[in-house]
Amino acid sequence: MDMLVVQGGQPLRGRVTVGGAKNAALPIMAAAIAATGTTILRGVPDLVDVITLSHVLRSLGMTVERCGDGSLQLNAVDERPCLADYELVRRMRASVCVLGPLLSRRRRACVSLPGGCNIGHRPIDLHLKGLRALGAEITIERGYVFAHADRLRGADIYLGGSFGSTVTGTCNVLSAAVLAKGTTTISGAACEPEVVDLGDFLNAMGAKITGLGTPLLQIQGVSELNSVEYTVIPDRIEAATLLIAGAITRGELEVDNLRTSQLAAVIDILRGIGATIDIQGESACVSMSSAPVPIDVTALPYPGIPTDVQAQLTALLTLAQGISVVTDKVFPDRFMHLPEMMRMGANVRREGACGIISGVTHLSGACVMASDLRASAALLLASMAAKGESVIRRIYHLDRGYDHLERKLNSVGAQIRRVTDNADNLPTSLMLSLEDQASPVVDSSDMPPPPKYLLGRSTTRQATFDSSDH
Ligand code: UD1
Repeated sequence: MDMLVVQGGQPLRGRVTVGGAKNAALPIMAAAIAATGTTILRGVPDLVDVITLSHVLRSLGMTVERCGDGSLQLNAVDERPCLADYELVRRMRASVCVLGPLLSRRRRACVSLPGGCNIGHRPIDLHLKGLRALGAEITIERGYVFAHADRLRGADIYLGGSFGSTVTGTCNVLSAAVLAKGTTTISGAACEPEVVDLGDFLNAMGAKITGLGTPLLQIQGVSELNSVEYTVIPDRIEAATLLIAGAITRGELEVDNLRTSQLAAVIDILRGIGATIDIQGESACVSMSSAPVPIDVTALPYPGIPTDVQAQLTALLTLAQGISVVTDKVFPDRFMHLPEMMRMGANVRREGACGIISGVTHLSGACVMASDLRASAALLLASMAAKGESVIRRIYHLDRGYDHLERKLNSVGAQIRRVTDNADNLPTSLMLSLEDQASPVVDSSDMPPPPKYLLGRSTTRQATFDSSDH
């Protein structure tokens, strides 16, 4: 297992390019199950979740190959398998995206329920409700969803839930409805750009979907989908992470290949925090010369601030001059990063679905543990801004969802080393000696009082689950 050793305090300067969107690529790869012939996908990022889904798809009779030009080629050579096994699905929740395509094309699916997750309760009841409405018979036995339908039939489906709509649930129902007999309407559909990208892909294959990007989708069923060549959209979460990296290090960073219209809420909040962002077409230059302005942020379904950017914004606000409140209305329990940020000197506490952040003048490097994908990115950002060296452990979470993030950051001035996670590789600056017991190694003048809630229940789940994903 690897860890990252980060030397903080290096302003990022230069240009980086955003890669393809993980959360668009995954349901699109899964939807290739429903195509006849070879699907060619461009812009699929090189990351562990894509490799995991490739294993799932191979187990389902597909060939999946990364070609010399970087494209991914997928072909369903054996349409008999319908089992997505627990050993694969537990590694990545998004594997559940095979459910809709399997059901529509192969008429049956047996997909493991994904299980626990570090970012909160993540049921799939809405996925199942939508598929049942299309006529699927669904039972849950031995930890698996067994679904069957001789021919799905169009229906009127409402997919809204207590926390808004569901992104992968909309993807599943959409991928099933395109091959159903008759017309389907989905109201309360997720409007996220990744759902639109899946819809555009399905339409390119011959599906008839209208209303993409709105909560009301109309789908006219077709009998077959043809394979196509398709390019996945840029990753708006990676783009937001890079913009925050430029701001938190007080650098001047040009981020290329982003769709600014999909990042409107993030750009707006970063400007409110005091960053300067100049937009030129598909490129944005971020700079920040003074301490962040405190601000209240609420993560909401699209087009609001994405929950996947909440932790990174929290990292930035730990350095603000005053108090900020960060609320997550999509995953109200997604605050596992707070205790680790406190180890770096951040003054943060959790209250229900909110993180209350009292800004400090600086963070100090520490050894911290990543709990999930976006928390790892947030800890990396905090480490880059901190005084001294930090170590981030359990970075397999980061590798699941970012395409060589530390390489990109190093190319613009960051100092991040990837090393094997063992005691020999811990920086000596983080090893305290007997002498250090008498005199603190860091200036603790603006450190927070001891955290009350570290003793409370919110931190106890950290070691419970390993497969948190997004
Ligand atoms: C997707 C993204 C993830 C992102 C999330 C919210 C992928 C692979 N992952 O996850 O990065 O953080 O959207 O933007 O695209 N819910 C239910 N019942 C359901 C399904 C969801 O109550 O059947 C709830 C969830 O608990 C959560 C909210 O709805 O509170 C949103 O979840 P959902 O949009 O389904 O997230 P994912 O699709 O799993």
